[in-house]
Amino acid sequence: MIKQLFILGWFLFISSGVFSQNEAIVPLPNYMVKKDGQFTIKSKTKIVFDQASDTLRRTAEYLNAAIALQTGFRLAFAGSSENDNNCIVLKLHAADSLGKEGYIMKVKPDGIEISSAAQNGLFYGIQSLIQMLPFKQENANQLAVNCIEIIDEPRFAWRGMMLDCSRYFFSTEFIKKLLDNLALHKINTFHWHLTDDQGWRIEIKAFPRLTSVGAYRKETLQGHKKDIPEIMDGKPYGGFYTQTDIREIVNYAGERFITVVPEIEMPGHAQAAIAAYPWLGSTDVPTDVATKWGVKPYLLNPFDTTFHFLEKVLSEVFDLFPGEYIHIGGDEAVKEQWKSNPEIQDKIKALNLKDENELQSWFIKRIQKYAQSKGKKIMGWDEITEGGAPEDAAIMYWRSDHKQPLEDAVRGNHPVVVTPQEFCYFDYYQAFPPKEKLAIGGYLTLDKVYTFEPVPRFCTKQQAQQIMGAQANLWTEYISTADHAEYMLFPRLAALSEVVWTKPDLKDYPDFVRRMEKLLSIYDSKGINYCKKQIVKCP
Ligand code: ACM
Repeated sequence: MIKQLFILGWFLFISSGVFSQNEAIVPLPNYMVKKDGQFTIKSKTKIVFDQASDTLRRTAEYLNAAIALQTGFRLAFAGSSENDNNCIVLKLHAADSLGKEGYIMKVKPDGIEISSAAQNGLFYGIQSLIQMLPFKQENANQLAVNCIEIIDEPRFAWRGMMLDCSRYFFSTEFIKKLLDNLALHKINTFHWHLTDDQGWRIEIKAFPRLTSVGAYRKETLQGHKKDIPEIMDGKPYGGFYTQTDIREIVNYAGERFITVVPEIEMPGHAQAAIAAYPWLGSTDVPTDVATKWGVKPYLLNPFDTTFHFLEKVLSEVFDLFPGEYIHIGGDEAVKEQWKSNPEIQDKIKALNLKDENELQSWFIKRIQKYAQSKGKKIMGWDEITEGGAPEDAAIMYWRSDHKQPLEDAVRGNHPVVVTPQEFCYFDYYQAFPPKEKLAIGGYLTLDKVYTFEPVPRFCTKQQAQQIMGAQANLWTEYISTADHAEYMLFPRLAALSEVVWTKPDLKDYPDFVRRMEKLLSIYDSKGINYCKKQIVKCP
């Protein structure tokens, strides 16, 4: 009996697609049918697109660079494919039901056509085609691509990744490389955590001390925050992004159809700002930029001077980031300093508020009104639902062990991005700890990320529409280098990309692992320091 079950299981495993001829594309396209034959890219093949469009030219360049990596030659560009079959055509057509990120790709023996209603979809079609190219060939004089028809569009509009640049500072070069790799996975949102207790990392011209003071700490805790005794390294640490750096990053991301969402934390996680400008604080005791990890007590005070400060900061931030949303943090604001400050207690009474949670809600609503007056929307961590979130605020759900804020956000008609710790915190260990570099804790394997379902079970069909998508979060208390950041991100980000792109009934973990082999060669060619222990052949 056991043997029969084993044979049946093996049969189901084979027929589930593990050995199917599907192209090894990650995230898996939503419709893909293999056809007979191949198209061969040769040195005389042309890339055809509207020559008046600089955006299309950039997208074509992206493909050309991937082809040149293996062949050493670059394809010529042309405005029309008349009298010539040997072409890769990028075609914009009238809006259709696939939306601006969807695309259709047809590979036939005489050429390739990728079409979409918008540049975004063409870019994603190119990403799929790049993954279909044969790999590990150097100086190949031609590249054969299997004939296929793909009709594809993403499941969610928000497909994100958050990088904490406060705990450790990451260079603009690394962020550009990261953006290229996000694009490879069809991730379209880069959430940039720019301010926190351990460092303020964005230049604000109106308040230079935010970076001259707030971007530097005296020293940094070594080892885990729970280790006894505490060991400090005794070395000053810091850095920040100038507004020129930020414009460069935002532009670079835009060219890859990635929106950058900056996070400016308030009212908590504000110790670096308070170190720079003590009048922002809720006590009379000056402080320094934090040197250790963990939740800190420092809160911005809720007086007009603070709002004038925040409005000036935000007006510079809004000028730098063209996206619809700005993230205002709102998490882990322990209220002790507000509780013990008599003037703040008087303010709570004067505003007729019940408690400090309602004061935080009042604080965030005031910021939301300012953002709205500038044509922007705010997003905050799920704590902003405590005391009531502003009407049009989006909620970023993170606390796996607190389900109430998620239910409140959905029932309050807020748009929601889900990033629960148990599936989306990529600072957790991904392999058995003894041989791993120190991490914050937790355990999140590749297959567990793959099983994540972003739409909560309690949602009605209509409420499911409020789930904008999901993202991976990389907090960096224990990640000080670019190599280590990549190790924590890849290949788990590949699993998340399939969670947010592919329809759930098409997901198949053994097939994902099979397709990953190709993606890993691409990782190798791009010099990505991924975690190799994660790719375990199934079963
Ligand atoms: C968070 O992890 N504090 C949002």
